[in-house]
Amino acid sequence: MRSILVVNAKGGSGKSTLACNLASFFACWGVEVSLVDLDRQGSAWDWLRARPDDLAPIHGLRGKADRPLPEQGDYRILDVPSGLEGEPLDRMLELADTVIVPVLPSPVDIRAAGRFIAELLHSPTRHPQQRICVVANRCRATTRSYRALENFLTHLDIPFIARLRDTQNYLRAAEQGRGIFELPTREVVKDLADWQPLVAWISGDPRLIVVPELGSREELAGDR
Ligand SMILES: Nc1ncnc2c1ncn2[C@@H]1O[C@H](COP(=O)(O)OP(=O)(O)OP(=O)(O)O)[C@@H](O)[C@H]1O
Ligand SMILES: [Mg+2]
Repeated sequence: MRSILVVNAKGGSGKSTLACNLASFFACWGVEVSLVDLDRQGSAWDWLRARPDDLAPIHGLRGKADRPLPEQGDYRILDVPSGLEGEPLDRMLELADTVIVPVLPSPVDIRAAGRFIAELLHSPTRHPQQRICVVANRCRATTRSYRALENFLTHLDIPFIARLRDTQNYLRAAEQGRGIFELPTREVVKDLADWQPLVAWISGDPRLIVVPELGSREELAGDR
């Protein structure tokens, strides 16, 4: 089982949005996936409860950071609360083989991300095979704050893998318990393109594509 942790100490950076959309992506590709909500706010849990029964299944689990976490599925996505630092953060890192840090384009978020990523990289529980990347979230490419974020992210010691644009598509999908992969393709073409490098990086397969009818489920299943 692969464990993917979506984490940033800063609130509202898009952790739950990324976690739910990742779960939707894996489910659409026919991979067995669990989504573990470790946040008392329960955003991922609420999203799953809104999810129609006829969509690809996702195992929903609620967990507590200080208890052993359930292991279920080929991929396990961990959605954690904001404010994680110190020992609770170390415990979460120990469980993950892949870590994704979403960062928003604002001066406050950029400064906070700098501190958080430094803490991540120095965690005693970080293991050598563990892969960490950053994702710019809610991007508006023409803005000065986006350029500042891009400049910051490209100078980090960890890869800057994807830019997700700021769009109502994420809200629309979320209110229906869907990921953007489960909205009509013509409405989310730009967003699917945004996710392409992220899913390729996670799977380790650059040929993996996010538009379901253009790829085969086996490509991803075979990679786990
Ligand atoms: N790319 C995006 N475009 C538009 N809205 C977005 C995007 N990403 C996230 N949002 C919205 O931003 C808000 C915060 O996102 P989200 O809940 O995923 O952040 P979070 O990091 O999980 O927050 P918390 O720290 O409270 O757990 C939500 O309303 C979400 O719908
Ligand atoms: Mg959240």
